[in-house]
Amino acid sequence: MRRLGCDILGGVRPYRSSTKGRVVESEIVNILDVEPAALRPLLEAESRAWETELHWDYSASSRLISTWLEERRLSGYTLRSDGKIRGFCFYFLEGPRAHIADLFIEPNQAELMYAKQLLDRVLRHLLTSPQTHRVEAQLPHFSFESLAPWFRIHCFEGYIREFMAVPLSTSNTAESIASETSSRSKGDFEIAPWERCHDRQAAELLYHAYHHHVDAAINEQYASLAGVSRLLENVVYHHGCGEFLGQASFVAFHRPTRKLAGILGATRVRRETAHLPQIAVGVEFQGAGVGTALLRRGLNHLQCQGFREVSLTATSLNHGAIRLYQRLGFRTFRAFGAFVWQRHSKDSSSTLTNAM
Ligand SMILES: CC(C)(COP(=O)(O)OP(=O)(O)OC[C@H]1O[C@@H](n2cnc3c(N)ncnc32)[C@H](O)[C@@H]1OP(=O)(O)O)[C@@H](O)C(=O)NCCC(=O)NCCS
Repeated sequence: MRRLGCDILGGVRPYRSSTKGRVVESEIVNILDVEPAALRPLLEAESRAWETELHWDYSASSRLISTWLEERRLSGYTLRSDGKIRGFCFYFLEGPRAHIADLFIEPNQAELMYAKQLLDRVLRHLLTSPQTHRVEAQLPHFSFESLAPWFRIHCFEGYIREFMAVPLSTSNTAESIASETSSRSKGDFEIAPWERCHDRQAAELLYHAYHHHVDAAINEQYASLAGVSRLLENVVYHHGCGEFLGQASFVAFHRPTRKLAGILGATRVRRETAHLPQIAVGVEFQGAGVGTALLRRGLNHLQCQGFREVSLTATSLNHGAIRLYQRLGFRTFRAFGAFVWQRHSKDSSSTLTNAM
């Protein structure tokens, strides 16, 4: 167990480190003390990274971050070296839960070293704050391996998350999607477009489907009905994961009972790339082909709408789901880390064993 002292909190702190034989001086500066214009080149570089590495048009999110910077509404830190801002990390506080929402370092700089310096500052602030009981982070610009040992020092649990995608343009993909059958469930289920009237049932389905699920260990929102309702609202109404595509999002009903059996949400994340931010099947209906049928319907619809690629993210430990995606042609193109720290009531610092 490691206790973190408060003595390192304070103003600007210089770092001296050496990379490739060169001594590099850098300092961590509160994001509120930096002119928003100084972060613009970094935001542009981040948008390029999302486009090339994550197949995602990040421009709308980037504009939102710029607005928050202008309005001085972001909490976090930047790293300055040679007079330039080289990286930033910001977080949101939601009651006792802190969510590290972004960590980005200028490419070709001492990325990992700077990332650790920034995270070090953010975590020392969050972990020593008595109000913070939980810290969650998903950092898609960094591999799990690069950050895991360092998060482990701070008593975080770590999980590998996979960005997966299937191309929709090749005829063999179309064939494999079309030939997937849901014979196990034939006749028992009907698929319909996802409409607002399904929201309450969808939230209940999600809450039960993710009970004791690894994704609920990563994202605490899955652990309560209010949390999953917020999560759904964010995807469907606040463009939290791209532009929601109502026409390509579906629900499945169990015909005999008229119960909601499954949901599939789809968003547009760049011109010809769709994303599936949510797929879940009610616990009592799992393993009956509903998930396969929903995915098939969604992929076929997206292909007809001119999309050339569909992506999603999944936790590596969610073996069944990953097998299902692979059967439909999805392949992992990037793996990154999700990290979670939970304060234990007996200990005001942290006592977690880690599972990395
Ligand atoms: C993953 C999930 C959507 C699959 O839907 P489904 O209707 O159960 O799947 P299908 O019956 O069409 O296909 C069966 C495949 O799903 C997977 N699967 C079945 N039951 C599962 C379960 N309880 N948990 C995880 N995967 C499961 C398996 O890969 C299975 O294939 P297999 O025969 O090779 O093991 C569904 O199980 C579920 O909602 N799980 C919990 C939420 C979740 O993990 N969502 C995905 C997040 S990325």
